[in-house]
Amino acid sequence: MDLLRLAQKRFSTRKFSSKSLEQDKIIKILEAARWAPSACNNQPWIFIVLRDESSKAKLKSVYNREWFLNAPVIIAACCDRKKSWKRKDGKEYGDIDVALAMDHLTLAAAELDLGTCWIGSFEFDEAKRVLELPEHIDPVAFTPLGYPQDSITGKMRKDIQEIVFWEKFSR
Ligand SMILES: Cc1cc2nc3c(=O)[nH]c(=O)nc-3n(C[C@H](O)[C@H](O)[C@H](O)COP(=O)(O)O)c2cc1C
Repeated sequence: MDLLRLAQKRFSTRKFSSKSLEQDKIIKILEAARWAPSACNNQPWIFIVLRDESSKAKLKSVYNREWFLNAPVIIAACCDRKKSWKRKDGKEYGDIDVALAMDHLTLAAAELDLGTCWIGSFEFDEAKRVLELPEHIDPVAFTPLGYPQDSITGKMRKDIQEIVFWEKFSR
């Protein structure tokens, strides 16, 4: 599918069918994430795929929403801080790299008519504890993944004139 159409098709799904997800679709989506660019090609991302009811139930203290916990699959996108690239002024690029991989992942899901939803407002300490992550690996985002039961409702975006400046910024 044309990338612009795919970007317009993807939306945050907050209602999932209980239909289970085929393993080959999960792999295809993760494969798209794997090909994302990253600073210095360090690929600091780690994806933890939760399919078992017992694994997903543990996330109640991390992000307590029924539509999230009841999705057939939940993916935790994490960053290995030991692997992420640091600019010489100290800026760390791990979150950006993981976000790029997440974007590939959500677009690949949309192409397969699957729903995702970026989750950033989770309990960080709880996520680290529940996922049993070592000190240097941080959860960056979660997404539920499954067949959507809702549909896109008027996606709003700023006009191009509001966000693009030619040659110099002015306002
Ligand atoms: C970094 C980031 C964090 C987000 N965190 C949450 C979240 O915690 N919970 C939620 O329901 N949606 C979350 N969203 C989804 C946004 O609300 C959504 O992408 C935005 O409203 C645009 O809608 P669309 O995804 O349908 O295009 C997040 C999105 C991004 C990119």
